[in-house]
Amino acid sequence: MCGIVGYAGKKTAYPILIEGLKKLEYRGYDSAGAATLSEGRVHLAKTEGRLADLEEKVGGILPGTIGIGHTRWATHGRPSDENSHPQAACSPDFLVVHNGIIENYRELKGRLQGLGHEFHSQTDTEVLAHLLEHHYQGDLVMALRRTLAEVKGSYALVFLSSHHPDTLYCARKDSPLVIGCGEGENFIASDLPAILNHTRQALILEDGEMGVITAESIQVYDAAGSQREKKIVQVDWDVQAAEKGGYPHFMLKEIHEQPRALRDTLRGRVAPDTGDVLLPELEDCERDLADMEKIFIVACGTAAHAGQVGKIILEKLVGLPVEVDLASEFRYRDPLLTEKTLVLVISQSGETADTLAALRLARRSGCRVVAITNVVGSSVAREADNVIFTWAGPEIAVASTKAYITQLAVLYLFTLHLAKVRGTLAAGERKALAAGLLALPSQVESLLEGEREKEVEALAGEVARWPSTFFIGRGLDHAMAMEGALKLKEISYIHAEAYAAGEMKHGTLALITEGIPVIALATQEEIFEKTESNIKEVKAREARVTEVVFADQKDILEEVDGVFLLPRCAGLLAPVLSVVPLQLLAYHAAVKRGCDVDKPRNLAKSVTVE
Ligand code: M6R
Repeated sequence: MCGIVGYAGKKTAYPILIEGLKKLEYRGYDSAGAATLSEGRVHLAKTEGRLADLEEKVGGILPGTIGIGHTRWATHGRPSDENSHPQAACSPDFLVVHNGIIENYRELKGRLQGLGHEFHSQTDTEVLAHLLEHHYQGDLVMALRRTLAEVKGSYALVFLSSHHPDTLYCARKDSPLVIGCGEGENFIASDLPAILNHTRQALILEDGEMGVITAESIQVYDAAGSQREKKIVQVDWDVQAAEKGGYPHFMLKEIHEQPRALRDTLRGRVAPDTGDVLLPELEDCERDLADMEKIFIVACGTAAHAGQVGKIILEKLVGLPVEVDLASEFRYRDPLLTEKTLVLVISQSGETADTLAALRLARRSGCRVVAITNVVGSSVAREADNVIFTWAGPEIAVASTKAYITQLAVLYLFTLHLAKVRGTLAAGERKALAAGLLALPSQVESLLEGEREKEVEALAGEVARWPSTFFIGRGLDHAMAMEGALKLKEISYIHAEAYAAGEMKHGTLALITEGIPVIALATQEEIFEKTESNIKEVKAREARVTEVVFADQKDILEEVDGVFLLPRCAGLLAPVLSVVPLQLLAYHAAVKRGCDVDKPRNLAKSVTVE
């Protein structure tokens, strides 16, 4: 995710900005920039690449005792010098750094262009600078309030303006921002590690709040413009704990970021009144989508498990045959591809060697390739015909969690879109599913509450004692079983098997012995009784069964040893909820076994070799 640092004080700002941004490097970024003010003049430098490239470009320092800096992880617009932040308005008198996504930037950009504003980047952020310039009449707080009133989306932002050369203006909504309080100097940062070398006293901005910061003063306002009294927080975290937002591991932090990641991925892509999906990324291929005869989903690991969910929902709602292929198999098995075959490639990193090779094979065979990826500017994003980005933000832990859940979200969006293009689902049904989709972030949030997590932690204590665990389910639940088993193997090194529940008695049931943990997923109404029969089979062999079901599910078997209840959603959407306890189970089992959770043995985050 992008990083923000701001400084107003008596020291030279530039080295403080660079040092702060370096503390955020672990989060990943693809470009960097900084701006300072000195004697009323703006000094601006930005570049694609690393902070070292920025330092080389500047070749010294930018003068001035006030400034803003940014490391960008590309979302709208590829990594480039022009798309780096700070972004300027028509005149460089209004500069902004921004984390988040401005949902309605296209509409705002069109209007501002109509008023004569000239844009120089492909970013959503640039509209903020132009809007502020448009609204400015001498009072920057007022202009900022008017700007924010027009903006839809998420933001943590800081403005620097030569009209008010001693002051930084900041605001937040759905993206973190803190103000660090010093002696004769103050700081702004998206994350605490950036400022901990200078101060441990901080004000945490809440959604809707704006801050006005000089070297000597900090004022915070609410959205209506009333001043607020804020409590100063004493930060005791060391830098490492601060990097992880206070969580012991990146994996746990990323699991807890899932509601935000889902909101960002869905943001602006569903019209709540009609349920229509808005994917301008697919505008040029509506006709091809309408004519497609078959879909291949190609991916590796967790991304391939997202593909298993995609297959089931696409076949059910769009009525097209879908095959899911592991990229390492697809590339060597001469798949039957025609120009009426759509190849859907899924990759968090966008750099997985096998997935990339499969994409190239599909393109050489004349297929349209639509990619779902998390990294703008990645090889997959550059080489696919169309790209739908997941807005999970950088994923640092090797085990994929928030990337997976956002891949699911995009697959639902894609399916609903295709169902409309091909006329396979009535408007009312699409609307109902879209409403269910929009409710998922809050439902995931409820599954991450302390007490719920403790339930999973207790189960993890049992699982951690056994050499093996089984995950069973049917249909979508089987797809989730696969993901649950992979997560557990990957980080806790416990052998885990995912089995289609009905298949157990064809061999694997022989492995079920007294006390062995079985996680049974049973969220699919139409096959609920079938799954319950399979649970009885393992119970009869004295396995210790925990069932994952909807909270309103009646007739849960008395024999099961434990249940984990999910808030009700449409059965087709259940994977987004049922994956959460499975991720937490793997995490807590790994912690209990003393494993290196974020960097499991033998594994790499991005597998760029075959
Ligand atoms: O970056 P990708 O999505 O292409 O990566 C694919 C797999 O390597 C990845 O999902 C892997 O299975 C994860 N470590 C699982 O948690």
